[in-house]
Amino acid sequence: MVTVFGLGFVGLTTALGFAHLGYKVYGIDVDHQRRETLQNGKLPFLEPQMEDELKHHLNKNFIITEDIEQAVSDSEYIFYCVGTPYGKEGSADLTYLFSAIDTTIAAIKDERYRILITKSTIPPSTTAEKIYPYVQGKGQVAQHIGIANNPEFLREGHCWDDFIHADRIVLGCNDTVSEKMLKKLYEPMGIPIYCVSYTTSEFIKYLSNTLLATMISYSNEMSHIADTIGGIDVADAFHILHMDKRWNHCDMTSYVYPGCGYGGYCLPKDTCALFAQSVAKGFEPPILKHVIETNQNRAKIVAEKIIQGQHRDDVIGILGLSFKPGSDDVRDSAAYKVIKELQNLGYNKIVAFDPAAMQEFRRAYPDINIQYLSSAEEVYNCSNIVAMITAWDSFLELAATKMEKTIDCRYALSRSI
Ligand SMILES: NC(=O)c1ccc[n+]([C@@H]2O[C@H](COP(=O)([O-])OP(=O)(O)OC[C@H]3O[C@@H](n4cnc5c(N)ncnc54)[C@H](O)[C@@H]3O)[C@@H](O)[C@H]2O)c1
Repeated sequence: MVTVFGLGFVGLTTALGFAHLGYKVYGIDVDHQRRETLQNGKLPFLEPQMEDELKHHLNKNFIITEDIEQAVSDSEYIFYCVGTPYGKEGSADLTYLFSAIDTTIAAIKDERYRILITKSTIPPSTTAEKIYPYVQGKGQVAQHIGIANNPEFLREGHCWDDFIHADRIVLGCNDTVSEKMLKKLYEPMGIPIYCVSYTTSEFIKYLSNTLLATMISYSNEMSHIADTIGGIDVADAFHILHMDKRWNHCDMTSYVYPGCGYGGYCLPKDTCALFAQSVAKGFEPPILKHVIETNQNRAKIVAEKIIQGQHRDDVIGILGLSFKPGSDDVRDSAAYKVIKELQNLGYNKIVAFDPAAMQEFRRAYPDINIQYLSSAEEVYNCSNIVAMITAWDSFLELAATKMEKTIDCRYALSRSI
């Protein structure tokens, strides 16, 4: 059996994924409301296909429980999928992870071999320097515990598909028993498995996320250069770049494209965490430093573009509040940063609409005082100028008919190619 701590995007997907493979899975989450929502067969976030999987496996292969002792007692595999948010000076906050590890160890009452597997994103060297010694320090019980790192590469909005059809499974192990057991667990998926050291495994996850962040900051800087020089059609330029056969038909092109800066739960915090970890180890990485700075400055550049030719009394419409289309996740969303910048510049008459994320945005950012409207049409009717911050498909048709009133902050409309 498998136990999963943390039933967010990663944990719920992992739990349901293993349930789908036929394993019995316990799901544990400290958030009472989240447990209740899931227990009612509902998702606490927008994620295609997952609600069907939840309904299918709930109370059969997937059991949401508060009885941690029972879950741990029955399980050989304990996965940690808890949050690792911003900590001090951009480093990763490992509080939730260690709390879940403590809870697990306190619940172990026998000598059965178990593996504690971190799926949460943790900075390179955390397992070797913090988790492994910490568990070893727990005495007798540590003799029957294996430790592993198993980063997750899924994208929000595609969680299920990315888990079930993952490109590769990365396992960071330092003992053959754990490695063998984990390979056995994942084998039915038929996905290539790569076993590496703890630190290599952790590093691979950051390699991936910081490369994506770098491509986005690079693209944003390029679009700023283009705007500064003038006479350049940014959307056309990037689309023609993508026609290069080294890029063509490659999903990465969406990251090599300008917009409002990278947001969401992962890229901002993970880029900061790797930067902080490298600085702590004695090297200040100049490229990552500028990637972060470029991203931090992006909202201001976007806000200044929106207000060009406007007066402070004008109403500014915002289309899109989630960090990307198809998601209701507003963590580190560009919309928040752009609205903040607009307000700092003295533009306080702001109206907004998002097809999925309005409730979440209002809850997450109570400091933001804007008027929430019920459709994109209403935003156009009430505003002097409308900024498309998140390019939901449902905005595109309407926005394309109102180009003169639209600031296309995602370069989603203006391409002629
Ligand atoms: N969201 C993504 O796209 C994504 C992709 C890959 C990796 N990751 C990484 O995976 C981890 C989880 O991300 P997420 O987006 O699923 O987070 P999330 O915020 O959606 O979910 C985390 C869950 O953990 C729960 N939790 C916290 N402490 C707990 C504890 N002690 N015991 C049980 N549950 C606890 C929270 O209540 C919450 O429901 C992070 O490290 C993140 O960086 C996220």
